Amino acid sequence: MDWEGMYRKGEAFWDRGGPSLPLQQYLERNPVRGRALVPGCGRGHELQLAVAHGLDATGLDIAPTAVAEARALYPQLAERFVAGSLFDPPKEMHGAFDVVLEHTCMSGLHPTLRADYRRGIDLTLRRGGLLVGVWYIDPDLDPGEEGPPFPFGVPDLTALFAEGYEIVEDYVPDVAFEGREGRERVRVLRRVA
Ligand SMILES: C[S@@+](CC[C@H](N)C(=O)[O-])C[C@H]1O[C@@H](n2cnc3c(N)ncnc32)[C@H](O)[C@@H]1O
Repeated sequence: MDWEGMYRKGEAFWDRGGPSLPLQQYLERNPVRGRALVPGCGRGHELQLAVAHGLDATGLDIAPTAVAEARALYPQLAERFVAGSLFDPPKEMHGAFDVVLEHTCMSGLHPTLRADYRRGIDLTLRRGGLLVGVWYIDPDLDPGEEGPPFPFGVPDLTALFAEGYEIVEDYVPDVAFEGREGRERVRVLRRVA
């Protein structure tokens, strides 16, 4: 995927102009604290949400233009946005986070990159930390359309974190962006190994 090219051409169709509603609901209901990483943060809406809920958050995105747009949109948080890859995170991010907030980063990755995603989470999330995910489950694709978002089922999610993580919460949220109703799953995982 040419993420940088899509941002440059103004083709970031996934961006809904505000933060994930299920993530917002989760953070309103659960006092999550500490250092948080938002991988694939895009234009930064979830980063802004995390900071508003008391988290010391950092956003990481592989597309420099996404980072530039996030900084322009949230100038007071500009230094929190970092350009780089979750697959090879800067050394200072290794084991540095109490929480990872996932929203449409994993589902945007080709299935062949899922092991790299898991490795990126393992590299950045400390043992005992929480992976709070709004996982996009089985997106509505037109015939012949491959993705992103790529087809991804609950069994795939379970398999991806079968070892080293335990499920803390798991539900289908009752709030969603239009078109994503019933297609997302909030699953919170704790890193245990
Ligand atoms: C589908 S978009 C979602 C963006 C944002 N989370 C949102 O909901 O608007 C996926 C994002 O992941 C970023 N991305 C893709 N591969 C990445 C990687 N290896 N490391 C960090 N970010 C990555 C892309 O540049 C893009 O901004």
